[in-house]
Amino acid sequence: MKQSTLVMDFGTSNTLVGAVIDGKSFSALPLDPFSPDPTVIRTLLFFPDGNKAYYGHEAIDAYEDHDFEGRFIKSIKKFLPVQSYLGSYIDNRMVKLEDLIHFFMLEMKKRAEKHLNHQFDSILLGRPAKYSQDSAKDNLALYRMTKAAELAGFKYIAYLPEPIAAAHDFSSEFQESKLVLVVDLGGGTSDFTVVNMHKNKIQQEDVLAISGVPVAGDKYDGSIMEHKIAKYLGANVTYRAPLGKNILQMPKALLDHICSPGDLTQFHKKEFYAFFKGLKSWNVSSENRKKLELLEVIVDDNLGFKVFEAIEKAKVTVNLEGSAHFHYKYTDLEIIEDIHRDEFDTFSQKHTNKIFDELHECLKLAQLKPEDIDFIYCTGGTSKLNSIQTRLKKMFSEEKVQSGNAFNSVLAGLNKYAIENLC
Ligand SMILES: Nc1ncnc2c1ncn2[C@@H]1O[C@H](COP(=O)(O)OP(=O)(O)OP(=O)(O)O)[C@@H](O)[C@H]1O
Ligand SMILES: [Mg+2]
Repeated sequence: MKQSTLVMDFGTSNTLVGAVIDGKSFSALPLDPFSPDPTVIRTLLFFPDGNKAYYGHEAIDAYEDHDFEGRFIKSIKKFLPVQSYLGSYIDNRMVKLEDLIHFFMLEMKKRAEKHLNHQFDSILLGRPAKYSQDSAKDNLALYRMTKAAELAGFKYIAYLPEPIAAAHDFSSEFQESKLVLVVDLGGGTSDFTVVNMHKNKIQQEDVLAISGVPVAGDKYDGSIMEHKIAKYLGANVTYRAPLGKNILQMPKALLDHICSPGDLTQFHKKEFYAFFKGLKSWNVSSENRKKLELLEVIVDDNLGFKVFEAIEKAKVTVNLEGSAHFHYKYTDLEIIEDIHRDEFDTFSQKHTNKIFDELHECLKLAQLKPEDIDFIYCTGGTSKLNSIQTRLKKMFSEEKVQSGNAFNSVLAGLNKYAIENLC
C-alpha cells in the first residue's frame, strides 16, 4: 500500500492531475497558470530547440513568439499505438515518443510536487479502453506509456481504464442497483463501459463490459478540414506528372495527414518531399498550382496547429449556435466558409456511426439490450455534440441520458479509486 499517489488523466487534448496523500484527495490541481481553467492543461508540447520546452497553454504562446519555428506537438497520445511513429525530430535529433511523453509527465509531476509540497514515486494513470483495436498495438501503447512514467521517476505505476474511472465518479449517485452505460467521448478515443452500480462503490465484478474506438473529437475536426477547408489547399486538384498520361489526384496519405490535427501539426515537408518537388514541373492549371503552393506554405510555415485551432473553435460554435463563420487569413491564403450544423452532421456522420457501432458492441459484450440500461452517463468534450446527444436520446430515451462534468469525471473517478484501492 502506498501512502500517496499522483493521479493523471493524460488526455489527447487535455490533461488533468490530482493526488491522494494519506487518504486525503486533491482533485484537479491548478498546474497551468496560463490556461483559462488552470486545472485543465492542454496536452501540448513545444520545443524551440533541443534545450528548452514549453507545455500546455504556454506552448502556444511560445510557439507564436518563436514565429512558429521549432517542434510543436499536439495529440501526442494518438501516436502511442502507432508502430511507425518512433518520435519527433528536435534540432535534427530524433527524440523518442516515450521521451516526449516523459518530458510532459515529469513537468506535471514537478508542478504537482511544488504545489502540494510532497514528493511522489507512485502514479495512477487513466488509459483508454483500447489504444487500438489491434492487441499488439494496444500492448505497444501501454509499454510506451509505462516507459514514459518510469523515465519521469515513478516506481509504482498503475492503470485504470478511463470509462471505468468515470464510472467511479458517477457511482456516488447510486444507492440501489442500476445498470449504467458510461460514455466517455474525448479528443482521441470514444470509450464505453456497462457497470452494475450500487452502494456507492464499484467492484471488479460490477464491470459487465468495456470497449472503445480511436474515433473522437480530432476526427470531427478532421471532417471539417476534409469537407470545407482542404479544397483551398489543393485537395481536389488533378495534375499530370511530366511525360505521364494519367490524371492524378492528391495522394491519399497526404490528404489523411492534412485532415488529422496531430499529423498536420507535426507534418514535415521532408515526408512528402517528392510531392512538393514534383509540383514545380507538373502539368497543372495555374489556379490549382496556386492552391498547392498554399499547402506548401502551410507546411513550410508550420501553420497546421493554427488552422486546426480555428477549425476546433468553429466546431464548438456550430454545435452551440447552429452555424459558424470560418475566416482564416495568412499572406495569400484566405479561407472564408460558413459551416452549418446540418452539413457538419452529414459529413461527420461516418465518425458518429463508428462511435455508435462501438457502443452497440459494448452492449453486446454485456449481453444487454438498450432497454435494459437504466442510465447513460456522458463525459468527455465530444459527448457535448448535438448529433451524439440526439442519437443517444433516441436510442435510450431522453430521461435516461445524463451528463457529468465533461472534463473532470475521469480524474475525479481516478482519485476516488486511488483512495479506495491504492492508498
Ligand atoms: N462544447 C463542445 N462541443 C463539441 N466538442 C467539444 C466541446 N468542448 C470540447 N469539445 C471537444 O472535446 C475534445 C476534448 O475532450 P476531452 O478533454 O474530454 O478529451 P481528452 O480527454 O483530452 O481525450 P481522450 O480521452 O480521447 O484522450 C476536443 O476534440 C474538443 O474539440
Ligand atoms: Mg479523456
